[in-house]
Amino acid sequence: MNLAPADRDRLLEKVLNTPKYRESGLNPHTVLDLIDEEAPRQASEKALYKAVRRKLHNIVAPYLGDPDYAALTERLKSLKSPPLDAPELLAICTEALTAHASTAERLPVQTEFYRQLFAATGAPAAVLDLACGLHPLAFPWMGLPPSTAYHAYDIIQPRVGFINRFFETLGLAPLAENRDILVDPPNIRADLGIFFKEAHRFEKRQPGCNRDFWASLNVETLAVSLPTRNLSGTHSLLGQHRQLVQANCAPNKIRDELIFEKEVVFLIDHPGRL
Ligand SMILES: C[S@@+](CC[C@H](N)C(=O)[O-])C[C@H]1O[C@@H](n2cnc3c(N)ncnc32)[C@H](O)[C@@H]1O
Repeated sequence: MNLAPADRDRLLEKVLNTPKYRESGLNPHTVLDLIDEEAPRQASEKALYKAVRRKLHNIVAPYLGDPDYAALTERLKSLKSPPLDAPELLAICTEALTAHASTAERLPVQTEFYRQLFAATGAPAAVLDLACGLHPLAFPWMGLPPSTAYHAYDIIQPRVGFINRFFETLGLAPLAENRDILVDPPNIRADLGIFFKEAHRFEKRQPGCNRDFWASLNVETLAVSLPTRNLSGTHSLLGQHRQLVQANCAPNKIRDELIFEKEVVFLIDHPGRL
C-alpha cells in the first residue's frame, strides 16, 4: 500500500504510544524504517500496523530482560573514580549483565572470552560495539585501559543513558549513542567492530542486510558472534550460523572462529575493503 506522509507520522505515533513502547525510549528511526519496509507488502493500514509491531517485538526483544536502570544509576552515583576491580562496581556490572539473556550467558566465561578475543585481534584502542545491549558493562573484565574510545550503539534510550553514566564513572568518554545502526551505520574508523548475537535478528528484520551493513564499516576486524544453540538449548545452531556468516562476506575474509559453549565468534578482516 501507499502511505501518505501524514499517515506515516500518525502510525509512528501510534506505535510509540502503545503501553509496551511508551516508556522504552525507542528510537523513532527504527519504527519509520519498519513502516517503509513493510508498507509495500501490506494491503491495509491495520495489516501494516500489525506487521510493524511483530517485527519490532523481535528487534526490541523485551523477553531478553532489562535491569532497573534508575536503581543501578543511583548506585553508580555513590562511586567516585573507582578502580576497575572495586567490589561495588563489579556488583553493579554483574547485576546489569545478569538481567539480559545475551550478557547473562557470557558471564560464566567472560574472562576467558576476552582473553581469547584480544589475543586474536590485539587490544583495540577504538571499538564500535554495534547493537550493544548491556555488553559495555563487561568493560572491567576486558582488560582494556580507560583511554579506549568505546563507541556503543543501541536503540533503547534508558540503556544508552545508563551506559554513558557507567562510562563516566570509569573515566571513559561517554560515547554511547541512541542510533539504529542498520538505518544509519557508524562510519568512524575503529580497530575492532563488535557485533554480538544480533546478525541472525538482522536477517529476520531485512533478509540479506548483513552483507551491506558489514561492508559499510570502517573497522580493521569485525567480530560477529552468534549463539551456538537456540534459547531453550534444545538444538545446535552452529552450522546454520556458519552459513549466515559465509553468505555475508568473502570466504578469505573469515580469519578465525572462537568457539565457546553458548556462543561462537567469527573474526572477519576489514569487511569494508574489497
Ligand atoms: C540480542 S541483544 C545483544 C546485545 C549484545 N550485543 C550482547 O551480545 O550482549 C540485541 C541488542 O541490540 C539492540 N538493537 C537491535 N537492533 C538494533 C539496531 N538496528 N541498532 C542498534 N541497536 C539495535 C537491541 O536494543 C538490544 O539491546
